[in-house]
Amino acid sequence: MNRRYRKTVIAGNWKMNMTATETKKFAEDLKKIMPRAKWCDTLICVPACNISTAMKAFKDLRISVGAENVYFEEKGAYTGEVSADMLKDLGVKYVIVGHSERRHTVAAESNELIAEKAKVALANGVKVILCIGELLEDRESGKTMEVCKAQLQAVVDAVEEKDWENIVIAYEPVWAIGTGKTATPDVAEETHSQIRAFMASAVSPAVAENVRIIYGGSVSTKNCKDLMAKEDIDGFLVGGASLKPDFVDIINC
Ligand code: PGA
Repeated sequence: MNRRYRKTVIAGNWKMNMTATETKKFAEDLKKIMPRAKWCDTLICVPACNISTAMKAFKDLRISVGAENVYFEEKGAYTGEVSADMLKDLGVKYVIVGHSERRHTVAAESNELIAEKAKVALANGVKVILCIGELLEDRESGKTMEVCKAQLQAVVDAVEEKDWENIVIAYEPVWAIGTGKTATPDVAEETHSQIRAFMASAVSPAVAENVRIIYGGSVSTKNCKDLMAKEDIDGFLVGGASLKPDFVDIINC
């Protein structure tokens, strides 16, 4: 399928940045330079404590609010955690699962745990941005696809074929996140097309054609156009560059 049939996704990931006050100010600044793009799904994932503020602040913008994390259990004695049901109740449409910072930095989340999180989010009607990607040493030792396949396979095993309509795959090479070292458009495209081929064999050719695979890792106003020109790149997950109002330029690209 030609990429134009897959709706572009531009997602911001604010990580542990922006207070509620800063969120309101950001929305005010953005209103002055409203994004033009109507043909893409645009969202910003914010810390859980700021979801309600962001929803109110972004109401007049064409930007929905996503969450950055979810717990894998439905409810109960899990101090500090946030359930998929709570996100759904707030009106959250997307949640990030499997971000490399949760796999490798702040928590040692396993492929299986991440698959459980994806499953519970989907069961509660919250769409999933499933992050996958290799460490620098994996790439240097030729293991990029081995790592990506294992990360995907855990989710393939946990969900049903129809669930892939509600999953966006975010390929984020860990060595490119927050480092300023973007994968070149050719390197990113090569991995995106291999991920799509894997989805065809692991799930079905139809899922492979339709699933949106977005790129993340030092996406900026400078490199977004060249990356977006690639056939298998269906949008972006943007960290640092989503914290500035010129995030709009990435949306518009
Ligand atoms: P970055 O982060 O754009 O700052 O590299 C991307 C991400 O972590 O999702």
